[in-house]
Amino acid sequence: MKAVILDGIKKFKIDEINEPVVDGEKVIIEVSKSGICGSDIHYWVSGEPKGLVMGHEFVGKVIDSGNRLDLNVGNRVTALPISPCGKCEACVNGNVQFCPETWSHAVGLSLDNPGGLTKKIAVRSDMVIKIPDQVSDDEAALVEPLAVGLHAAHLGRIAVGDDVLVIGGGIIGLASAEFAKKEGASYVALTETNPLRGKKAIDLKVVDEYYNALDKDLPAKLIEKTKGGFDVVIECVGNEAAINSAFTMVKPGGIVVLVGVSTSAVAIYSTLAVMKELVVQGSIAYTYNEFNACLKLIADKKIDALKFIDDVVSFEDVQKAYERLTSGSDSAVKILVAPKK
Ligand SMILES: NC(=O)c1ccc[n+]([C@@H]2O[C@H](COP(=O)([O-])OP(=O)(O)OC[C@H]3O[C@@H](n4cnc5c(N)ncnc54)[C@H](O)[C@@H]3O)[C@@H](O)[C@H]2O)c1
Ligand SMILES: [Zn+2]
Ligand SMILES: [Zn+2]
Repeated sequence: MKAVILDGIKKFKIDEINEPVVDGEKVIIEVSKSGICGSDIHYWVSGEPKGLVMGHEFVGKVIDSGNRLDLNVGNRVTALPISPCGKCEACVNGNVQFCPETWSHAVGLSLDNPGGLTKKIAVRSDMVIKIPDQVSDDEAALVEPLAVGLHAAHLGRIAVGDDVLVIGGGIIGLASAEFAKKEGASYVALTETNPLRGKKAIDLKVVDEYYNALDKDLPAKLIEKTKGGFDVVIECVGNEAAINSAFTMVKPGGIVVLVGVSTSAVAIYSTLAVMKELVVQGSIAYTYNEFNACLKLIADKKIDALKFIDDVVSFEDVQKAYERLTSGSDSAVKILVAPKK
């Protein structure tokens, strides 16, 4: 079957891969949609690992229900793409996101488990979640990135009335901002280097204000505006400039949530964290409960996931979609891929 395969630095090829094998355990899903994630962009930029079939934000129809007696052929499902061991302390406590095994066989993030950029995928049955009828495929494809934002907002321990700064207005920043508001923040600001993404965040009413991250006077302006700095800063970029701006603009005793991923070491002004006694909180993925909570919020119309979707493209247009998402001069934050398009 056809798949979009990572084939080098900023390069994909479309080629045939083997269909997943029915084994009576895993659920076999015919992919309907699969989102392109900011993390996928890191793989695309590095070209590694060659042969990877990405797509960990997928939705589709069951074609074999494996060992899930509650699922039928034709049911619409999504899944947590991760592969937690289920036995370690993290897993037992519900923190599947930092189980040491979680990423080793993750769907769309490991060579042995192709993701949604193909037609049929095999997914660990305990990670598969049925989609309620009132949730469309497009909405369900947004559950995974929204859950990343929900987890970050939870770890920011946002209190009612807090001033929150989100750095980076990709889908992860926008989702974090949306949940920061839901957790009770009274003011949510965004800094972005791409003005079109900044404007979009305002148009979508996800943030109160947007500021140009390249403005040298910005830290002083925002520290003055917030009378000493933000209570919580959620960093959704991962580069040196962004992380240091988080340390600069958070108030003494505040919380910095690091969500952005860097593929190499970054130089940080750790003395800022020392002098301000900052809480520096890493945030990875989501718990099982947070993933389900996002699906429920969409089903209950408490969150509009569709507003984040900019385009749906075919396999042939995946390369162009990646170029668009990394151009720095396009407002698009989420592009879905449809095998049938
Ligand atoms: N921790 C997790 O669980 C998790 C999950 C998904 C993604 N991520 C990571 O989070 C980051 C964001 O993901 P995304 O999908 O939103 O990516 P994205 O690339 O779409 O968004 C990043 C945004 O940051 C902006 N930016 C760049 N430099 C900046 C700066 N100095 N200040 C402010 N903005 C700046 C870019 O213009 C871009 O809009 C990525 O590093 C991704 O790998 C982490
Ligand atoms: Zn993702
Ligand atoms: Zn585990």
